[in-house]
Amino acid sequence: MTGDAEPTFSLDGEDLSFEPGETLLQAAMRAGRYIPHLCWHPDFAPHGSCRICNVKVNGRPGAACTVRAAPGLDVESNTEELNAQRKTLLQMLFVEGNHFCPSCEKSGNCLLQATAYQMGMEGPHFEEFYPDRPVDASHPDILLDFNRCILCELCVRASRDIDHKDVFAIGGHGIGTRLLVNSDSGKLGDTDLALTDRAAEVCPVGVILPKRRGFVIPIGERRYDAASVSDQAEGSR
Ligand code: SF4
Ligand code: FES
Repeated sequence: MTGDAEPTFSLDGEDLSFEPGETLLQAAMRAGRYIPHLCWHPDFAPHGSCRICNVKVNGRPGAACTVRAAPGLDVESNTEELNAQRKTLLQMLFVEGNHFCPSCEKSGNCLLQATAYQMGMEGPHFEEFYPDRPVDASHPDILLDFNRCILCELCVRASRDIDHKDVFAIGGHGIGTRLLVNSDSGKLGDTDLALTDRAAEVCPVGVILPKRRGFVIPIGERRYDAASVSDQAEGSR
């Protein structure tokens, strides 16, 4: 880098410019360079929990959504090794919950499903846990299907930081970690979550769904049916 030239780092061998303060993932996505991710969303502070965005930075592992871009960094992302790790993480997520894609309202609009396709996941590989996670249908307008939760905390962040309602939280430890609803009964119907809340539409998978609006857009004509998640990187998520 010389003079006033924009600072750059190398992503998979190609120079990528960045703005001061941007993370590797922000800079990449802004430029239309896809780095797989699940818990990151451009409108929220990074969370760094899913590790799907793990890259190598000067040979050392790091989460692309939390590592700040710096001049001269050598970042590897689209490598066989890293994509194999991502596929394994995705397979673990699929068996840890109950993801029956063909019958899911979010199929074709689901970031988990789209990322699994992108990483070439063809089966679960691990034994399914089939956890018992009853659906919460207590809210008049919104269904909560815990079976598909990947614990990305986007609904927690949206409800806390944008809606200022704190409807959701994550509780428990290890394999017992789960999404919680902040009401005395633990039921969504006893919160003030509204359909117009950001938290009601931010879920990247099919957990938080509006009632009475199923399959308005037919499967086959949805976001990730039209183009792969990597082809929709620019300015999106
Ligand atoms: Fe993420 Fe959706 Fe689970 Fe909330 S309900 S933590 S947005 S997967
Ligand atoms: Fe970076 Fe989830 S997107 S850790």
